[in-house]
Amino acid sequence: MPDRRHILITGAGGLLGGRLAQLLRKKAHLMLHFHHAPKKLGAENIFYGDLGDSDHVSSLGKLLKPDLIINCAALTDVDLCEREPELSKKINLTAVRLLLDCFPRAKMVHISTDYVFGERDYPGRPDDATGPLNTYGRHKLDAERLVAEASPDNLIVRTNTTYDMTSGNNFFKFVYGSLTAGKKIFGVTDQSSNPISSYSASDLILELINRDAVDLFHIGGQDFISRYDFAVAIARNFGLKSKLVSAKESGDLNRLAPRPRTAGLDCSATERFLKQLMPSIKDDFIRIYRENQTGEA
Ligand SMILES: NC(=O)c1ccc[n+]([C@@H]2O[C@H](COP(=O)([O-])OP(=O)(O)OC[C@H]3O[C@@H](n4cnc5c(N)ncnc54)[C@H](OP(=O)(O)O)[C@@H]3O)[C@@H](O)[C@H]2O)c1
Repeated sequence: MPDRRHILITGAGGLLGGRLAQLLRKKAHLMLHFHHAPKKLGAENIFYGDLGDSDHVSSLGKLLKPDLIINCAALTDVDLCEREPELSKKINLTAVRLLLDCFPRAKMVHISTDYVFGERDYPGRPDDATGPLNTYGRHKLDAERLVAEASPDNLIVRTNTTYDMTSGNNFFKFVYGSLTAGKKIFGVTDQSSNPISSYSASDLILELINRDAVDLFHIGGQDFISRYDFAVAIARNFGLKSKLVSAKESGDLNRLAPRPRTAGLDCSATERFLKQLMPSIKDDFIRIYRENQTGEA
């Protein structure tokens, strides 16, 4: 990381924003933005409010002078976005426009999603045609366009199925928590992606920033896997009962938002740029296991 940059992280209470804040704590002058007042106030500059509210973002713009904004704030509940498209638009799109308008001198690192792609039989590459199937994906794609148009220095990082044991609402945490409590769960067999831990995802985002990456990059794990197989892998690797996991087809679920069967991201261009492979599920499970045992991933 170039010397002690002034970095604003939005969505600092979330899965990725929280992990990035931990990693950057001693390396940058951090400004952390939360949606609601955090329970524990740390030593950093803490701000909170609704990033979809223009008065709020405009007052932040007058107060803060970040060199870099890592925008992790989002409404990530895909079915909620479908049910409440205006709410999705407010945080997934309008908030991005407000941040770009109110911080014209900051480089924006914007986190996006594999759901910008539609139905296909292989995971999307950065230069593939998009075609989101749901409201969340449409707003995230429109936001990407704003970020790219605002400056050629901006960076968009698409990730997919991001997880760890403790943060937010993520699939790993749900599976681990449910199986530990002896609860039966199911996973779909006909939707796949390439999951990546929040540790690896945050490391890769910071590595891209360190290498002055611009434009658009994909991050994700080495392994493409269905939700069902992922749940079974969690059970087997963490000493839990895989018999509690049953298989379903996505059509059985009646979920509001359509999702592509082949989701996930082709990350080969990022591997070439960074000269490193994406992590395997095994690599990431080891990091999660270590974090759980020692607090160090
Ligand atoms: N996790 C994944 O599997 C995944 C996959 C693909 C892409 N992504 C992208 O990765 C980025 C980070 O996602 P994440 O997994 O870290 O999500 P997350 O855990 O849901 O965190 C999002 C954060 O945004 C905050 N937020 C929501 N509405 C806000 C508002 N109106 N004003 C200010 N803050 C607001 C949330 O606060 P509250 O919770 O307090 O509302 C939350 O802390 C997002 O851009 C997401 O689209 C994630």
